[in-house]
Amino acid sequence: MMLSRRRFLQTSTALALLPKVAHAVSSDLVAQEAVQQIAPDGYPATPVWTYGGRVPGVDIRLPQGGRVSRKLINNLSQPTAVHWHGIRIDNAMDGVPGLTQDAVEMDQSFDYDFVAPDAGTYWYHSHNRSTEQVARGLYGPLIVEESNPPDVDQDLTLMLDDWRLDPESAHIVDDFDNGHDLSHAGRLGNLVSVNGGFDPAYPVGSGERLRLRLINASNARIFDLALDGLAGWIVALDGMPLAVPLPVKDSFPLAPAQRADLVVDVTSASEDVAGLASIERDGGYGLVRFQVSEASTSQRQGIEPLPANNMPEFQYDQAPLHRMSLQGGAMRWLEGAKLGDQDLTGRELAQLGRFWALNGYAERPKDPFLDSRLGQVHRIEFVNETAFPHAMHLHGHHFRLVLPDGSLGPWRDTVLVDRGQTRQIALVTDNPGDWLLHCHMLGHAASGMMSWFSVT
Ligand code: C2O
Ligand code: CU
Repeated sequence: MMLSRRRFLQTSTALALLPKVAHAVSSDLVAQEAVQQIAPDGYPATPVWTYGGRVPGVDIRLPQGGRVSRKLINNLSQPTAVHWHGIRIDNAMDGVPGLTQDAVEMDQSFDYDFVAPDAGTYWYHSHNRSTEQVARGLYGPLIVEESNPPDVDQDLTLMLDDWRLDPESAHIVDDFDNGHDLSHAGRLGNLVSVNGGFDPAYPVGSGERLRLRLINASNARIFDLALDGLAGWIVALDGMPLAVPLPVKDSFPLAPAQRADLVVDVTSASEDVAGLASIERDGGYGLVRFQVSEASTSQRQGIEPLPANNMPEFQYDQAPLHRMSLQGGAMRWLEGAKLGDQDLTGRELAQLGRFWALNGYAERPKDPFLDSRLGQVHRIEFVNETAFPHAMHLHGHHFRLVLPDGSLGPWRDTVLVDRGQTRQIALVTDNPGDWLLHCHMLGHAASGMMSWFSVT
């Protein structure tokens, strides 16, 4: 689908410059309430929950192989915990209440301290009551820098989110347990933000080369993204470099929790428009604008792949295949599923706010879906028997997609499985511990799509 220039002009004409991210002076990560202008100017500001006073939370940036040491201080009115999404992390630091740690109570703290082995674009977010806490703003970027980064003029992180705001007060609508949302596509919003603001604009020069680190922090919205006045490549997915950069043609999907790193050249002439847009059935809208001016830099040609991370080579054809059925939701309602040791009917489950199941379990089961020895190779086949897409995420590991022709696709940590689709992945379980495996549509996870695997 081609983008019309008009799409960008239809959005707010005011140049909404983003507040600068304050540089953290301490190594504390304070979960705290704040008020921020999320909706367009003219609307009231929105009370949000933040890491460090604004959404997205503090920009955590370190060199590859470096350490993140942060004391989470919980100044919120609910217990919380931080998950470092996509990091092949020490299990004790994974931030999952009830599995790897206790939730951090109000006015308490927890010391996170871990090594980030892989360069790339990651993020962190609350993993307690995440349907509510992430929707209120508890997320931030985690950027692990290559020792040998690509040659670009600007390196921009763009965190996309989807808010459900009351149109009068601009307050976040407090309906996180809404059964209709949970049993359908999840909690979709009515206002899309980038880096915590509506329709931001960034100055760029014509001919400049940009690295765009796109992160989808929304609860449930799958973006279909397109460029205007920019041309280039996808160079990494979910933090991991592609062996061969993929030229951006029309549009590309970005499901909840997924990341895409782009290297793009500004092809618009100065004074012209450029931007990133979301394509929707009714045409779409601009997400970010770039104000193009004359640049002095020389134009670059071609692209090198990003330096590869140190990922395991493996053979997967002999690897055991584990089937995981994604079940339930509106239109394909569960007939029944297990909750703990009990077999409940679909109606009983719905009354308890459970609408989905993974292999017949409507919550994280007592026994792991997969009990693996360290270093084993496994295949998992996600069979989507529901009428909705799901973004399946594994903790502590990246996996490779097994493509329809049997070859291995890119490394990912979150795979979008469309309605009716079956997708296979392969991985080496090389990180010991108990790890979640769940849908990253956060309302789906909270209402049944939650499992785990164990590596010993
Ligand atoms: Cu991004 Cu289980 O999390
Ligand atoms: Cu889902």
